[in-house]
Amino acid sequence: PLSDREIRDETVTLYIGGHETTSSTLVWAWYLLSRNPRVRAALTEELDRVLADHEPGHDDYASLPYTQAVVKETLRLYPTVWLITGIARKGATLGGVPVPAGTRVWSSQWATHRDPRWYRDAEAFRPERWLTDEDGEPAERIPEYAWFPFGGGPRVCLGTRFALVEAVLVLAVLARRHHLDVAAGEIRPVPSLTLQPDREVIATVRTRT
Ligand code: HEM
Repeated sequence: PLSDREIRDETVTLYIGGHETTSSTLVWAWYLLSRNPRVRAALTEELDRVLADHEPGHDDYASLPYTQAVVKETLRLYPTVWLITGIARKGATLGGVPVPAGTRVWSSQWATHRDPRWYRDAEAFRPERWLTDEDGEPAERIPEYAWFPFGGGPRVCLGTRFALVEAVLVLAVLARRHHLDVAAGEIRPVPSLTLQPDREVIATVRTRT
């Protein structure tokens, strides 16, 4: 059984890992949507068409591919966890560089997610890249692990599925009814424990008519 101390630690991990990550992702999503009216229009078109007049619930998740793509694309450009680390258990050679066992290795979501080798027009906010055509063919061939906002391997984020469903549904609930217009100016990310905006993000809420 877990000790009281371990239960406390697990609880703190869930709070930190489970709250700030998803809420920051949504802040970046609103920022990107505000700056990309074409994407915002496509998002609201999907929400109006799929949801009509009902509030989104878990069963709607699978029917909202564009909303899912908006969240995926946000996590690509602004991965709230932007750097992860691990220790090599075995020695290896990576890109010609010897990595002896015991070496601490860092990998950056930020750098990989914006690498033009893996993404067409890598700096652009283009949720369409995550969609498939009528034959189920992906719009873009994105290699596995070119997108890893939740890490990977045995220590992959435990909340991956939960976070995606939560972010998509919260976005759908709000975007269905409101536009959030983020005040003008570039908001730069600050690489703290998570990727934070460099200032308070002020938005004007407009109710959609
Ligand atoms: C957008 C939201 C989220 C992002 C970007 C995110 C990202 C990550 C990343 C990068 C890791 C480390 C993986 C590794 O080292 O390979 C991680 C671990 C973890 N995450 Fe998340 N996470 C998110 C949401 C959540 C939520 C909602 C929960 C819980 C409800 C959660 C619980 C955890 C836990 C418990 C771990 C530790 C897993 C382990 O070490 O075995 N995360 N997360």
